[in-house]
Amino acid sequence: MNELNFRAPKGTRDILWPDSERHQRLVDIFSAVVGEAGYTQVITPMFEHIEVFQRLGDATDVVRKEMYDFQDKGGRHLALRPEQTASVVRAFAEHRPNIPWKAWYTGPNFRYERAQKGRFRQFSQVGVEALGTEDPYLDVEVMALAWRFYERLGLSQIKLEVNSLGNKDDRVHFMDALSQHFEKYLKDLSEESQKTLEVNPLRVLDSNREQDSDLIASAPSMIDFLSEDAKKHFSLVQEGLDALDIPFIVNSKLVRGLDYYVRTAFEFVAESFDAAQNAVGGGGRYDGLAEDLGGPPTPGVGFAIGSDRTLLACEAEGVFQTLEPVTEVFVVDTTGGLAALSLTDQLRSAGFKTDRAWDNRSMKAQMKAADKSGALIAVIVGEEELATDTVTLRDLRESTDQIEIEKEIIIETLRKRLR
Ligand code: HAM
Repeated sequence: MNELNFRAPKGTRDILWPDSERHQRLVDIFSAVVGEAGYTQVITPMFEHIEVFQRLGDATDVVRKEMYDFQDKGGRHLALRPEQTASVVRAFAEHRPNIPWKAWYTGPNFRYERAQKGRFRQFSQVGVEALGTEDPYLDVEVMALAWRFYERLGLSQIKLEVNSLGNKDDRVHFMDALSQHFEKYLKDLSEESQKTLEVNPLRVLDSNREQDSDLIASAPSMIDFLSEDAKKHFSLVQEGLDALDIPFIVNSKLVRGLDYYVRTAFEFVAESFDAAQNAVGGGGRYDGLAEDLGGPPTPGVGFAIGSDRTLLACEAEGVFQTLEPVTEVFVVDTTGGLAALSLTDQLRSAGFKTDRAWDNRSMKAQMKAADKSGALIAVIVGEEELATDTVTLRDLRESTDQIEIEKEIIIETLRKRLR
């Protein structure tokens, strides 16, 4: 058997401590930030009927090239989720919770993309979706939540870009103008973009091929096609961001890679790294999606933040690095191990992070293990302590001070020392 088969598949990775802890803490902080704003967690399946994701747009890379789809044993055509908005809106349409429905989520997504730094085939997101109102200040609320989350992680080099993609009708006019523009210079477009143009001219704007860059730069701008209504919405969004002192720039070329967006679209870009993959989050409004997925017409807005890329940004800025100690108390037992077994159980129940040595090794070997564990205090049980119902506490930090105490006051003594 080929040895390579036992490695994690391309574009996936194993996340071990301390990175695993950072991932978990990132989710904890996110849930705290959005919890303060009344968002409750929704957990949707990791796979759906493929039709759910086809609503992301026939011409999007996500649908055309990147879907992990398969037939199950019952002959259903399913796909691993490439993102969670479609699933969450499908769940909304299925369960019809009261509106406004404000939900948050986390978990892995799957896209068959070209793997590179910050771009994986399995990656994690945290995000929110808010359904049930067209209020432009809700767009501001969700953007502010993402902003406050980055702030709480300690990130300061994040840039917010916003745009309006107009209402559905505005989009049709804009797409006509785009088609005319690109068709005029068809020969100059990359072959790939020529094909994309036939399906959806908007998606040509996503192309990052060098050959297309001049034509994209000279393409018409969505801002010029906004209806009065969409313009008003967009100006209120900007006013709201100003009121919250959230800095942003208007990027009229921002179209996002998914088709469901109308009106507000936004992206968070990490300025701390120069990698191509520096979008750490993005979102927008998707007012027609609930209806497309079998629900009542319901406006919605949300975002998703890429956890993996956000942690790369934290690394680049040198923030969100300090972790809690894994072990606070280490039990050393040279009397056979039974004392350690019950002491660790007792200390863990009292809330101390407690570990111990194994294999009944020498005092010296166990103390070495205690040091290596990073624990702050060693609790030592030797023959003498066992006979007198005492334990010896040894400081493992600055000093090597030690005291012998009655075993029955161990918890209150440790509490005084550690809390
Ligand atoms: P998205 O822009 O496709 O939007 O993804 C959001 C974020 O997920 C990106 O900014 C990026 O940080 C991260 N991400 C995407 N693909 C990868 C990848 N292959 N590897 C690592 N990170 C990645 C959405 O997914 C929409 N559902 C956002 C949304 C929510 N819109 C409305 N509500």
